[in-house]
Amino acid sequence: MARVIAIDGPSGAGKSSVSRIVGKKLGFLHVDSGALYRIMTWQALVKKVDTDNPDAVAAFAPTVDIECRPENGAIAYYVGGEPPGERIRTPEINAHASQVATVKQVRDKITALLRDMTRFGDLVVEGRDITTAVFPDSPARFYLTASAEARARRRQKEEVEKGIANQSAAAVKASLLARDAIDSTRKCAPLRKADGAIEIDSSDLTLEQVVDIVLEKIHETFD
Ligand code: DC
Repeated sequence: MARVIAIDGPSGAGKSSVSRIVGKKLGFLHVDSGALYRIMTWQALVKKVDTDNPDAVAAFAPTVDIECRPENGAIAYYVGGEPPGERIRTPEINAHASQVATVKQVRDKITALLRDMTRFGDLVVEGRDITTAVFPDSPARFYLTASAEARARRRQKEEVEKGIANQSAAAVKASLLARDAIDSTRKCAPLRKADGAIEIDSSDLTLEQVVDIVLEKIHETFD
């Protein structure tokens, strides 16, 4: 049976960088579950669905066809044969994704896609409900967090470096906190630390230090 490493936490806590490196070191496929919620949001906006109307989003959810395939150590996503690329990383998607992610039909669809990915092999899956709802039985579960300031700093740097946006640190922090609030108070699978998950606060740690802590715990679990 495929092994799953599950990593949850708020935006900007470092989940993507940590998961990617851990996946590479262990030969586990990296799965970015947030990208699936971003794809649903992107498609809803393209098709002019009112993302603030849960009934409209629920009806739209089954019509989106997302192809998932392993590629270069990760699960890659395609919509209509095209990779979404940076189109799902814009401030507009950031502003609507949490709302779309509150809708049960969206969550059910993405949860099914994620569980089905175990057929591709061992996975390191990052998100908000991976340790609590998608793979709650995984023996290697982590809750990665950091102060709002540290998270906003990282996200802003990333946006500028990738040429996605040039927002102030204050604007990035406000957007991030707004999403945290929706993600952790929604009715369906809210972001929370799972019982038994290992919590790591990365505010004052380097990426390498966080990776080392995660790898040490994983070796204790799987060896
Ligand atoms: O990790 P991210 O910023 O790319 O996530 C985008 C949005 O999707 C965010 O608002 C939270 C939501 N999300 C979720 O509800 N459950 C997940 N497993 C992953 C992301």
